[in-house]
This record gives sequence, C-alpha cells and structure tokens, in this order.
Amino acid sequence: MKSNASGLFAEAIKNSLSGRTKIVGRELLFYESVTSTNTTAMELIGKGCNEGTVVIADEQTGGRGRRGRTWLSPPSENLYLSVILKPEISPEATAVLTLMSAVACAEALKNFSSLPLSLKWPNDLTIADRKIGGILAETRTDPGRVTAVVIGIGININQDISALPPGIREIATSLKNETGVAWSRTDIAVEILHGMDKWYSILIETGKKAVIEACLDLSSTIGRTVSVTTDNNIFTGIAENINNEGRLLVRSSNGTLTEINSGDVTHLR
Ligand code: BTN
Repeated sequence: MKSNASGLFAEAIKNSLSGRTKIVGRELLFYESVTSTNTTAMELIGKGCNEGTVVIADEQTGGRGRRGRTWLSPPSENLYLSVILKPEISPEATAVLTLMSAVACAEALKNFSSLPLSLKWPNDLTIADRKIGGILAETRTDPGRVTAVVIGIGININQDISALPPGIREIATSLKNETGVAWSRTDIAVEILHGMDKWYSILIETGKKAVIEACLDLSSTIGRTVSVTTDNNIFTGIAENINNEGRLLVRSSNGTLTEINSGDVTHLR
C-alpha cells in the first residue's frame, strides 16, 4: 500500500472510490512530493490521460494559489489534490466549476464536523472568515474550446496555524485548529472526491442551477458589504447575488450593479 508516515493512504482512497464514482477517481496517482499537483495534472493531460484522473501529493514544493499567490504545502499535514475534468463547455463557462468544487469540499468537511463552514465567493472555504481551503481551477483550451480543466484543491487539515508566518496565521485556520484533534487525510480525501463526482454529475446532467443554489446556501458573501479587487478595478458595495453564470453581483452606493467574473473579495462588514 502506497502511503506515507502520516497516513495518506492512496490505495485506501482508490478502493473507497472504486465502482462508487462515475467519473472522479477512475485513476489516482499519488506522489510524495511534486512542485504542484495542478502542474502534474496539466502534464498528464498533455499525455492524454482520462477524465476523472486525480493527482494527490503529500507535499508541494511550489504550491500555487489564485492570482499568482503561493500555497504553502508542507508534508504530512494537509490535502493537496487535483482533479482532471473534460466538460464540453465554452471557456467562459468554466467559472461554475470552481463554485461546484467549493460546494463539494464544503459539504465534505461538514459531513465530518459541525463546524460553521461557509464559502467566500468564488473559491474560499472559510470558518468565521478564516480560510481553511481554496480551489484553483486552471483551463486548457484549443481555440474557443475547453479541452480540460484542472481543479486544484488545497485544504488545511492538521496544520499548526501558529507555525504559519505572520500575516497568514491571522487569516488561516485548519480542521485541527478548529477542533483540537487530528483528522485522517485519507477519509477527507475520499469524502471530497465522492462529493466532486456527485456535483459534477449534477452539473452535467441538470445544468448550473443546482450548483448556484447550493453555493448561495453556503455563501458568507451574499448580503455583506464587500470590496472586490479585479485585474483593473476595486469595487465596493453590497454583494447581492450570484447569477446563473456564477458571477458575483455587487451593488455600489450609487445604485450601480456590477457583474464580477473574477476577483478577490474582502468582507468589510
Ligand atoms: C487559493 O485559494 O488561492 C487556491 C489554492 C489552491 C491550492 C491547491 S493545492 C492543490 C493544487 N495545486 C496547487 O498548486 N494549487 C492547488
């Protein structure tokens, strides 16, 4: 059985998914250490891997977050995994895959604890506004067509938050930090991958509506005063809704409603 000292058991994950998922986890590749599971997944796509392939690693030496940030990825503590999907959608429609993945992860973590987990649009899993996990979706396209999407998932499981650098430790948390006990990364990975499979099937078979509704139910952003930093602008206002494309609708004090496709949200009040 391929595993490491702290109990991330790849064979156990494979066995728990085998025959029980439609797409996610058809193949699962475990690495002790990679630069980034998203980078490894992109390389596998280039080699023609199947949809549903999962890359999971004990450690990332160059873990990446959204908007060019670093994702600290020490060994033996947390979950770092990437799921390869090949949906037949346009490049503009991929935003909903981030929301779908955030919903799947939030539900999975809620199944383990009664923690008040919520989603900060578009990709943050939070507990009382402290980040416990995030999603990095990266798309591979041919002109005008999505050939594959890599959904990278990072969840702080047994991370000692007080050991994180200042500036991060104040805004981050982990399952262990919240509950005082250590958690099985294997069990949580299984639950997340089952959830990813369930929500991906719902998305393919019934469309975006159910994903957006689940996202709204879990959202801590809607109704809050927010500041949203996009590539070119900063918007402040009330986050009113998430539309059918997964975009955040922010109403500014002069009444203008702005549709935001991608950005960094800060909850102000
Ligand atoms: C974010 O909140 O900014 C997204 C964080 C995503 C981190 C995960 S860990 C697995 C995968 N590989 C990476 O390099 N990043 C994602």
